[in-house]
Amino acid sequence: MKRRDFLKNLGVVSAGAVVAPELAAKAPAAAESGLMDIFNPERKSAGEFNTRFPIKALKAKVSRPLKVVIIGAGNRGRTYSNYAQLFPEVMQIVGVSDINPHRKEAMAKKFNVAPERRYGHYDELLSQEKFADAAIICTPDNLHFDPCIKALDKGYDVILEKPMAQTEKECRAIYAKTKQTGRIVAVCHVLRYAPYFLALHDLVQSGEIGDVVSIQHMEPIAYWHMAHSYVRGNWHDSKKTTPIILAKSCHDLDIIRWIVNKPCQTIVADGSLYLFKEENAPKGAPLRCTDGCPHEATCPFSAIDIYKRKKLSLKVFDLEDPNDENAIVEKLKTTNYGRCVYHCDNDQPDHYVCNMVFEGGITSSFTMDAFTPSGGRRTRIMGTKGFIDGDSKQFTVTYFGPENRKTWNLKVSEIAEYAHAGHGGGDLGLVRDFLEAVDKHDDSHLSSNIKVSLESHVMGFAAEKSRRSGKKEKIKV
Ligand SMILES: NC(=O)c1ccc[n+]([C@@H]2O[C@H](COP(=O)([O-])OP(=O)(O)OC[C@H]3O[C@@H](n4cnc5c(N)ncnc54)[C@H](O)[C@@H]3O)[C@@H](O)[C@H]2O)c1
Repeated sequence: MKRRDFLKNLGVVSAGAVVAPELAAKAPAAAESGLMDIFNPERKSAGEFNTRFPIKALKAKVSRPLKVVIIGAGNRGRTYSNYAQLFPEVMQIVGVSDINPHRKEAMAKKFNVAPERRYGHYDELLSQEKFADAAIICTPDNLHFDPCIKALDKGYDVILEKPMAQTEKECRAIYAKTKQTGRIVAVCHVLRYAPYFLALHDLVQSGEIGDVVSIQHMEPIAYWHMAHSYVRGNWHDSKKTTPIILAKSCHDLDIIRWIVNKPCQTIVADGSLYLFKEENAPKGAPLRCTDGCPHEATCPFSAIDIYKRKKLSLKVFDLEDPNDENAIVEKLKTTNYGRCVYHCDNDQPDHYVCNMVFEGGITSSFTMDAFTPSGGRRTRIMGTKGFIDGDSKQFTVTYFGPENRKTWNLKVSEIAEYAHAGHGGGDLGLVRDFLEAVDKHDDSHLSSNIKVSLESHVMGFAAEKSRRSGKKEKIKV
């Protein structure tokens, strides 16, 4: 087999790319180790890091196909189930639970789940004798704790969507339950499994920029996404779900803690809801955008613009045909997604800042901002020997002293296996590492085991406490 064909079979070579001979020669060994060396000479420059951070192939190395059940067959449940479609020899879906019959049946049919293993409420599934190795829990935020505890009691290992639970006490109880049962819980800190963040993390840990002294990290939500999820949508009410610092940004606190690699000691936070409230409604704005709003044509948050014209985030509607504009308008007339952003019963802040101090006096600031044109986290890391500036797609290291820069700019979207995996490729990387952890009964296969996840959740709850009290909070894990 030619080298190029070999890499093509691995899903590594994108159209038009040629493999550097020295890497092609290494390819068989790379395949055995489960690592894919990626190199695209079209982007080669003196200062590229691409070859130094080989990407792990997505297929888990397991001794047998692992059986899983999906609890919550919505957006995230479907995302993780894609793994079984990609690698049916590694993961098989043998049970599904969703109170939405359409979603339950759609997933069950796709994976040939036996009729007697299709359940509505998760209690129906979890009251059966254990019939799979693991449970993937993707129910709404307020339904993480209960099914997770029940699944652990039944002997399942668990993938648990973030945030772990609605309170710190419940998060601690999940941690305690893993100790009591000896089972594994992988919380979906999916960014940790994205090649960009892995490269960023590994570079810092290698000492390349000396000691990390401070980090600035920003999560731009995008104005329309804020309106979709945190004003109109599922996470608009912090009491029924979780505060936005956990619902949206527990990933970010986790990433900062991971890169600093030292415990967080204190956190202080501020932030509020500035725009999306009654008093800011333009004159004459009706309750719904579809009620003949006089501002519809100029309002950036118009539901008609976001869903009908721009066709953003239509998955929430379960439409047979996403191009059926009549069906979209019908949804805008009957669901929260058509409500005027100034007439919703929302309470999540639209801007949020946190300052953290870690062991050794390392500092980090974090901001979450609704008023940005698009998403894509930005990170600046200040080390004693260099500075990193990244935007979730690429990062550049500038070394101090003589001008010297290097850039990591691998396009994950060009790698066939990773092309359709969300969160920069992290969604399916998490499933791979979880399956390996389950197969070997060893949670060290996970980038963030349950103890690590508990720590960043404690930081999130402390941030919210500080935002409300105005006081700096000590972190005690
Ligand atoms: N890791 C990430 O980056 C990430 C991204 C988005 C969402 N999330 C989290 O994932 C979770 C799910 O979010 P989503 O966007 O998939 O929501 P979703 O509404 O699309 O899916 C949730 C599903 O759970 C089902 N459900 C509700 N109650 C149930 C019950 N009692 N038994 C069984 N099924 C039940 C619903 O019918 C729905 O289909 C949330 O907690 C969310 O915060 C994580």
